Amino acid sequence: MVGLEELSLADLRQRRSAKWRTYPPDVLPLPVAEMDFPVAKPVAEALRAAIDRSDLGYAGPDGGLAEALAGFAARRWGWRLDPGQVALAPEVGVAVVEVLRLLVRRGDQVVINPPVYDSFFPWMVEVGCQLVEVPMRRTGDGWALDLDGIQDAFRGGARVHLLCSPHNPTGTVHRREELERLAELAARYGVTVLSDEIHAPLTLPGASHHPFLSVSPEAAAHGMVFTSASKAWNLAGLKCAAIVTADQARRRLVERLPEELPWRIGHLGVLGGAAAFQDGEPWLDEVLGVLDHHRHYLAELLAARIPAIGYRPPEASYLAWLDCTALGLGDDPSAAFLERGRVALSSGPAFGRPGLGHARLNMGTSRQILAEAVDRMASALD
Ligand SMILES: Cc1ncc(COP(=O)(O)O)c(C=O)c1O
Repeated sequence: MVGLEELSLADLRQRRSAKWRTYPPDVLPLPVAEMDFPVAKPVAEALRAAIDRSDLGYAGPDGGLAEALAGFAARRWGWRLDPGQVALAPEVGVAVVEVLRLLVRRGDQVVINPPVYDSFFPWMVEVGCQLVEVPMRRTGDGWALDLDGIQDAFRGGARVHLLCSPHNPTGTVHRREELERLAELAARYGVTVLSDEIHAPLTLPGASHHPFLSVSPEAAAHGMVFTSASKAWNLAGLKCAAIVTADQARRRLVERLPEELPWRIGHLGVLGGAAAFQDGEPWLDEVLGVLDHHRHYLAELLAARIPAIGYRPPEASYLAWLDCTALGLGDDPSAAFLERGRVALSSGPAFGRPGLGHARLNMGTSRQILAEAVDRMASALD
């Protein structure tokens, strides 16, 4: 099997996924959240075995994903989730949108914490709810939830809080006490917390992820967790995610999801996801080692080449949130990096108002490509 960082640029350019086909071939792409590593062996074997069986039909009722996720959650986070309370959906995006359709009526308020995953915004448009933005709070060199602001929003009538945990794009892993307090507030004001934990398996050394449903009885009663193997094992194209609940009322809500939903899930996504959660930890640990290196290596590269960029190594995942306000490149620095440096980053303003002057760089690649990306960014400033 090829080592994690051994795929060359020429190999990667053979890929037909969004990351590699959205830009012209002279652009180095580091935007959309896909990683450049070769697929994990147990996942490849599960997918190959399905192809060998010509087993490419609709997802069946028992692909083993719920049990595999429960095993992973117990080993990784000490979270004893009930596989009977896991429902599948084609992706986290579809799952959140469909759950919101059951929870809110047009115009109801939903809280988010920008800068935040850019797709949260169009998801809200799909559902027709009103966004209440409670930005992340700066804490010295990091970020935290603004719990007082969240309390005001809950008191003001918000029905749902769409939490990003760990937080994309800042890479913040929310502390247990913050999540406990959030759960208390949710219970007091009758708010449902939808916790998008898709990046959680990518929590890096030094931080501890706390699954929302595991932090307190209030969280279990007022929360729902959304997850998938798609970010951590790079399977986004296979289309499978999980919705986890821990109480009967939320479970009954999930039972009201559209009856066609199970037919829309990717069969290979279920099989690949089950293999990932069940047997993919050695590969994941290797990835975490590479990302742990890269987050510090990027700090060195930036200090040497573009010290005016503000950057704090993330506590989870492979996304670097770059404060480029001192570069004088305007609201969307990614435009200048693309046009003049031929390197594609995600546009900061797409993550909400606090993203003005920022860009997001995807570190899920080799150290050579990372260095090349910073070279290209520096050349855009010459
Ligand atoms: C926080 C977050 N949620 C959801 C997604 C998308 O997940 P899916 O493809 O399962 O909708 C992403 C993708 O980058 C993400 O960062």
